[in-house]
Amino acid sequence: MRLDRIIKGGNVVTPAGSFTGDIGIAGEKIAALGADLDPDPGTEVIDAAGHHVLPGVLDVHVHLELPFCGTVSADDYRSGTRAGARGGVTTVIDFAIPFAGESLGQAADNWMRKAEGKALVDYTFHVCITRWVEHKSQIKEMVDRGFTTFKEFMIYESEGWQSDDRALFGTLEQMREHGTMLLVHAESARVLDELIARHHTPELMARHGARLHPMTRPNFVEAEAIQRAVQWCEATGGQLYIVHMSTAEGSDIVRAAQARGVPVLAETCAQYLVLDDSVFDGEDGHLFACCPQIKKPRDVERLWQGLRAGEVSVISTDTCTFTREQKAMWNGDWTRIPMGLPGLETLLPLVYTRGVLGGRLTLEELSMKLSTNPARIMGLYPRKGAIVVGADADLAIIHPTATRTVNPATMETNADWSPYDGWELAGFARTTLSRGEVIVDRYAVVGREGRGQWLPRTSAGLGASRVPR
Ligand code: URP
Ligand code: ZN
Ligand code: ZN
Repeated sequence: MRLDRIIKGGNVVTPAGSFTGDIGIAGEKIAALGADLDPDPGTEVIDAAGHHVLPGVLDVHVHLELPFCGTVSADDYRSGTRAGARGGVTTVIDFAIPFAGESLGQAADNWMRKAEGKALVDYTFHVCITRWVEHKSQIKEMVDRGFTTFKEFMIYESEGWQSDDRALFGTLEQMREHGTMLLVHAESARVLDELIARHHTPELMARHGARLHPMTRPNFVEAEAIQRAVQWCEATGGQLYIVHMSTAEGSDIVRAAQARGVPVLAETCAQYLVLDDSVFDGEDGHLFACCPQIKKPRDVERLWQGLRAGEVSVISTDTCTFTREQKAMWNGDWTRIPMGLPGLETLLPLVYTRGVLGGRLTLEELSMKLSTNPARIMGLYPRKGAIVVGADADLAIIHPTATRTVNPATMETNADWSPYDGWELAGFARTTLSRGEVIVDRYAVVGREGRGQWLPRTSAGLGASRVPR
C-alpha cells in the first residue's frame, strides 16, 4: 500500500507496549507500524526522533458554548477544538442538553449546529435526559440515530436539568435494555441546597467569600449521590459512568461496587489531580469555582491511586470556560459564580507532567486513561484511542522533557486566565494529526476549522465491560 506519510523514529506508544520506530499513514488511516518503513516517492516524512508518539487524546467531557449559570461558556467549537488540538486532543464529546420543552432529538440537532463548520477535530455528544417523563420514550430513537451515551444530572434544579431517583432508575433500566450507558453528575441536591441556604448570609459571605463554595460541598455531598446512583445501577444492571469524580469516598464506593461486579465506571478530571482547595484562599479564588469543587490533598492522592489501581478509568477536563468578566458576575456571592474551568489545552500537558514525569503513571497508563479507555468506554474503539493498523491516524507527538510556560495570552482558549498560569508544563503537542492530516505543527494550529466530523456510534461498539482495571 502506498503511504502518504510516515511518522519516523519516535517512541510509539501502542496497547501492546512502546517501540522505537515508524507509523505509516495511508489517507486517514494508520496503515503500517514498523521499525523502519520505506517511504514511497512523494511520501511525506515527519521526523519524530527524540519524541513520544501517542494516540490522539479523547476528551469525553466538554461543554462548548453552553448556556449555564446565567451566561454562555466562552469557548465554542472553534476556540475549544483549536485549544484541544494544541494539547493533542483529537476527539471531543460534549453534552447535548434540551432547552425548555425540547426533545432529545432537538437537543442533538442544536449541538450539531454548534459544531458544524467550526470543529477542528472529531466530535460527538452525550444526550442529556432532563425531563424523564417526556424523554423516556425518545431514548431508542437517539440510539438509532447513533447516540449511545446519555447523561443525567442529580443537581441543577434551577437550570431545569435535575433528575430524581425515578429517572435514574428508569434510565438505567433502559440502558440495560439497549446496551447503552448512563453518565451521571452525582451530588446530593437536597443536602447541598440546605447547606447553601444555611450559609447564604451577608455576614458569612463577607467573612468567607469564595471559600463558601468548598464549605457548602463537603465530601459526603458527592459520596452519598454516587452511593445512590450505584445502588440503582446494581438494582437494574444498567451501565453507569460517574463523571468528574472528585472525592476519596467516591473512589472507595466505586472500587467496592466494581469488586462485586456492579457495572459502574468512573472518570476524574485533570483539575482534581493537580489542584487542591487552597486555590479558594487567593484573591482570585472565585475563578476556580467549578462543580464539583476542587477538593483536599487527600482526595488528590486517592484519585491518582484510583487511576493506578483501576477504579478510575478515564481522565477528562469538564471544560466549561468562563472569562474573568463572566466570573466577576459573582459580586461577592459565591452562589452566582459561573461554575467551570478551561481545560482542553492543558489536559495532556498536566497529566504528562504531573503523572508521567511526576512518577505517578507510566506513559502507557497515561495513554490508556486519556485515549484507549475513553475510546473503548464511549464506543469509538478501535477507530479512535490507539495506535493500531486500521485506526484513524489521530496522533500527538510530544517532546519528553521540553517545557512551555502556561500563559493565557498565548493560548487558543477564549479564557483570559488559566488555573495553571505560569506553570511550566511538558507535553504540549509539537505535532497533532487528525485522520492523517497535520493540524498542529511546531506547537501552532495549522488545521482548517470545520474539518472535524461527527462520530456516529452503535451500542455494539460500547466496550465498558472490556476496559482493563
Ligand atoms: O463546573 C462545571 N463542571 N460546569 C459544567 C457543568 C457540569 O456540572 O459539568
Ligand atoms: Zn457535572
Ligand atoms: Zn460537565
